[in-house]
Amino acid sequence: MKHRLRLQDVALLGGLLIAGLPNPAGAAPVNYDEAKVGEIPLPDPLQMADGQPVTNAAMWYQLRRPEILRLFQTQVYGQPPPRPMVQNFRIVAEDRAALNGLATRRDVVLDIAAATNGTALTFTLFLPNRRTGPVPIFVGLHLFDTAHPHPQPAVARRQPGTPAPTPEANGRIGRATADRILARGYGLASLNIEALAPDSVTNYWQGVARLYGRTQPGAPAAEETGALGLWAWGLSRALDYFEAASDVDARRVIALGHSRMGKVALWAAATDQRFAAVIANDSGCGGAALSKRNYGETVAIITGAFPHWFCGNFTQYAGHEDRLPVDQHELLALIAPRPVYIASAVEDRWADPRGEFLAALHAEPVYRLLNAGGLGVTTQPAPDQPVGATINYHLRHGQHDLTDYDWDQYLAFADRCVMSAATAPGHSH
Ligand code: GCU
Repeated sequence: MKHRLRLQDVALLGGLLIAGLPNPAGAAPVNYDEAKVGEIPLPDPLQMADGQPVTNAAMWYQLRRPEILRLFQTQVYGQPPPRPMVQNFRIVAEDRAALNGLATRRDVVLDIAAATNGTALTFTLFLPNRRTGPVPIFVGLHLFDTAHPHPQPAVARRQPGTPAPTPEANGRIGRATADRILARGYGLASLNIEALAPDSVTNYWQGVARLYGRTQPGAPAAEETGALGLWAWGLSRALDYFEAASDVDARRVIALGHSRMGKVALWAAATDQRFAAVIANDSGCGGAALSKRNYGETVAIITGAFPHWFCGNFTQYAGHEDRLPVDQHELLALIAPRPVYIASAVEDRWADPRGEFLAALHAEPVYRLLNAGGLGVTTQPAPDQPVGATINYHLRHGQHDLTDYDWDQYLAFADRCVMSAATAPGHSH
């Protein structure tokens, strides 16, 4: 009989591993031995389900891309809700002298009406005051604490039983990083998740899921979108606002996220081709890491601990990852030919750094087919050696976190692939 993980073991285990502490005695084994991963056949992104090879860009866009997208919608994340029938943006606060005059801070409320009910989402933008036209912007969820007048690391979400994170941990942007981003000419926007989907199995449905049919608690149904999909949908709504705002360049919007929000950034860019580029920092299982590799967090562990993140169908692959008809290199392929940055950290074995690299590598054939250039290497680079042109990757020394080193690379990437790109990468198709 298969050993089943108890939910609390798994949640505890995940948190402890992230904190870099040893396995608690008696917990289900998590594999960290590369020799035990074995050879896993990956689905070929350039082969149709019926075996036909995909030989040109038209075939990719018209036939194979929709086929892969559909697999992610039915087997992994769920069907995204539609664009709201009605949405109105209201600027509820604006401070033109934020960050010592460096930026304009704007709080926007988005009122959404669906068939019978509605809700309001809020997000906060900082735009550089030294701008000559619409600016490129980084957007993510909980990138900073929007309750505070200045970007501050938000109050970090904690797993039960884990040590308190350090203030700069957990991927939030503090004041110094925000100043850097704005001084470099980029805007910065962050949404809160609460109105979209609270991050809990009992309450996740009490956000926008209520607008699209859900009336009671319960894990997502077979193809029903889970919280990751609802959060990604929120990023698209922010993009709707950027299209309406004259001071943001909606063709140069970079989705960025750390850890669970890195998973979200990737799915947002896959489902919404208006995103110009995407950065997934330490996104791990359900993000950039290949699901079929048994290393670190697995489908069994993630669906046990966070059943509300994915569609119901994904749980059937717990312990049966070999049956998954799709894998995460194909999620990255859905983003092609747009620039993507995948990053791992040496001590973040829970997120499977090698699995993240391999997904980037195996997305490359699609980027090549679309003449977009790829990663430029075939083996995982040594720590602190960023690689790539359109697909970018680094393995950083240190722990699961979004650090200044990561931001050095992301700003250089954004300058090269988004800010100074002759044609905006977004809206390519
Ligand atoms: C948990 C989870 C990861 C996730 C992480 C985070 O550890 O297992 O998949 O990335 O939380 O978002 O911090």
